[in-house]
Amino acid sequence: MSTAPNDRSPMTVLAVAMALVAAACTGSPSPTASSTVAPSPIEQVLDAIPPVPSVDAEAAAEGERLYAQFCASCHKPDLSGDPDWKTPDDDGTFRPPPHDASGHTWHHPVPQLVDIVLNGSGAPGSTMPRFDGTLDEAQVEAIIEFLRSRWGDEERAFNWRVTFEAGRRDEG
Ligand code: HEC
Repeated sequence: MSTAPNDRSPMTVLAVAMALVAAACTGSPSPTASSTVAPSPIEQVLDAIPPVPSVDAEAAAEGERLYAQFCASCHKPDLSGDPDWKTPDDDGTFRPPPHDASGHTWHHPVPQLVDIVLNGSGAPGSTMPRFDGTLDEAQVEAIIEFLRSRWGDEERAFNWRVTFEAGRRDEG
């Protein structure tokens, strides 16, 4: 039996206990971690978002070409939109918004964006043409992929989250 005087001092016990608590708190919940405690609903939601898909360079290149042909006249070649896009026009309709990180396009799930481009935004008196019949769904998806390629990591991550969650809602 050990005779070291400080072996079981209260401070040693406290230090060991604190180390155990710290170890238990730093491990972030993950589906692969073996744990006897079922993950809370919040942990399930946070864990279930897969990594942000990387940009499909081929689709983005096709989208860039289509954007220049069909969208740039209003939304500007550099995606910056109308400088006064936040102020309605004199007739009350909206001006073309930017599609770069400064706008709000990235706030919307990708399928909703595709639907807006094909079937209209539903904005009152919208002056944006519907592209149903001009572009097919894959072409519009390529344009959105091009926009995605121009956003920063944070906008892409946010957009992926809302896109993923919208898909999960649609599934049930
Ligand atoms: C004739 C001008 C015009 C053209 C061409 C045009 N837009 Fe728009 N767009 C607008 C205007 C004006 C708005 C704002 C009113 C509205 O939401 O309908 C808008 C809004 C949008 C929105 C919804 C707002 C947002 O940022 O989420 C999306 C998405 C969009 N445009 C994408 C496109 C894409 C992609 C193309 C090319 C295929 C395109 N637009 C071509 C004028 C245009």
